[in-house]
Amino acid sequence: MCGIVGCILKDKDAAPILLECVKKLEYRGYDSVGIATSSRGLSIKKDQGKIDEVDEKLQITDLPGLKGIAHVRWATHGLPTRENAHPHTDCKNRIAVVHNGIIENYKELRSKLEEEGHRFTSNTDTEVIPHLIEKYTDNGVGLEEAIRQAIQQIKGSYALAVISTLEPDKVIGVRKESPLIVGVGEDEYFIASDVPAILQHTNQVLYLDDNEMVILEDTGVTIKNLDNEVLIKEMHTIEWSPDMAEKQGFEHFMLKEIHEQSVAVKNTLMEESEIKETVKKFRHFQRICFVACGTSFHASLVGKYLFETLLGTPTEVVLASEFEYSSNSLDENTLVILITQSGETADTLKALKIANKKSQTLAIVNVVGSTATRDAQHVIYTRAGPEIGVAATKTYITQLTSIYLLATCMTENEELNQQLKKIPEYIKTILEMEDHIREIARRYTNTSNAFFFIGRGFSYPTALEGALKLKEITYIHGEGYAAGELKHGPLALIDDDVPVVAIAPPGKSHDKTVSNIEEVKARGAQIIALGSREDDVLKSEAHDYIEFTDEINEIMSPITYVVPLQLLAYYISIERGIDPDKPKNLAKCVTVE
Ligand code: M6R
Repeated sequence: MCGIVGCILKDKDAAPILLECVKKLEYRGYDSVGIATSSRGLSIKKDQGKIDEVDEKLQITDLPGLKGIAHVRWATHGLPTRENAHPHTDCKNRIAVVHNGIIENYKELRSKLEEEGHRFTSNTDTEVIPHLIEKYTDNGVGLEEAIRQAIQQIKGSYALAVISTLEPDKVIGVRKESPLIVGVGEDEYFIASDVPAILQHTNQVLYLDDNEMVILEDTGVTIKNLDNEVLIKEMHTIEWSPDMAEKQGFEHFMLKEIHEQSVAVKNTLMEESEIKETVKKFRHFQRICFVACGTSFHASLVGKYLFETLLGTPTEVVLASEFEYSSNSLDENTLVILITQSGETADTLKALKIANKKSQTLAIVNVVGSTATRDAQHVIYTRAGPEIGVAATKTYITQLTSIYLLATCMTENEELNQQLKKIPEYIKTILEMEDHIREIARRYTNTSNAFFFIGRGFSYPTALEGALKLKEITYIHGEGYAAGELKHGPLALIDDDVPVVAIAPPGKSHDKTVSNIEEVKARGAQIIALGSREDDVLKSEAHDYIEFTDEINEIMSPITYVVPLQLLAYYISIERGIDPDKPKNLAKCVTVE
């Protein structure tokens, strides 16, 4: 996820305004920044680093011209470096492009363009775009047509902003599956990934749909489809405050990020071919050891159940902070998989150092260029985009997606692969239950005792994750337990002030979990059950029921059943007047041991 902006101003230099606008998009990414303006020629400044750091170093706003484009980057292809920062240009420096999205077929396009003589200077997928536009303008077509021809070659998602010395009066935007809006001010015009970028300048907004192009000129804004027909769009007045707009109208980043999960999974699934390449590089191994902390540890635990079920390879899971005390049996036959969204967690990095000396290491990471990605022998990226809320939500779901993809690539399990592709749609349907979950949350807000979260097998990590979400953002104690283990002690705590959240998808563990529910219900517990729509037995045991399509079996349940638990914690937190984005005593990235 990156942020892009473009503008045409009446009587002010564009660069300072563009910088102010991309600052409002920093929540979409923050590893590099760049601006291009056009006056007599193109002027570009860009570098790796946070916006303020780069501005201080380069005086990035010191560029001439009333028109320009800008970018704030969250690296996907290529490390965060100056070369990879946007804008990217063609060979003759006449076309500058900023891009948000992923070009899936960039490798093929790049080698073809290189064969034709184009010279590339970055490792990004984006750079193919200015070269494609160059190729078509060299054939004699105008800029708009060249952009249209270029995007017909591209597979993937994009929101683009383009300026060129060939037609210096225009800033052109185009989108497919990545957001792009148009801001219409008084004699000044904007395009941006999101409303907060432009809200200081105008609250009049047009929304572009997929495969639509917008042309900003001094005289106004024209929107066209890819057949070059002019479209008339409805103008919207934005009533949000700038703060609300940054969260796209959601009250908190956490809720916004919960809602982004369908897209985040979809983007992560696009990594399949990269994962296949990575798997080919593994040396032979006889055992797997997952290492992680917190939520990433719960993803690892799902990995253990999955790898032992599908591969039959002995798999253990170790908390990163405990790894140095239990790593003596590591050897060259072990594949150590470290999971960390930030790639900077001190405990995990320490474990990685130890593991690197004895074993093969693979890191599953969300932040490109983070320390874990540099230190590990192999890397797989999750594509959640930046996560601002302290509570991990979309990064957890994408970690699970990567683990499942890895397992399918290792086993060539086509059935599981097909099931995985359905997850984004399932998540959308689950989110439709939001009001129902909010109602449930209201009923349990004043629980003075602890909640129990129980599940067996694949549902045990989901129970642990549900309990962690509750603890960290509601300050109510949540105890995640293997359902069969309750009778070995904690059953003594159950009474009618203890809600028990039971996770019981269809599958091998279902019937025994139902028996455990009966045990706690007999002791007065209030049951919130999660299970299949068809499961009348489970429904009859529950005081509150959260239902899923019965197509989601036990094995696939971790990636979907956790979503209502995130919402449950979120709404209890709201009812209790807590800011879920900033829970007390916690940090997003824990860089101390
Ligand atoms: O960045 P990491 O995945 O290494 O972070 C590990 C934990 O600190 C993290 O998962 C933490 O438990 C979550 N923020 C809790 O929601």
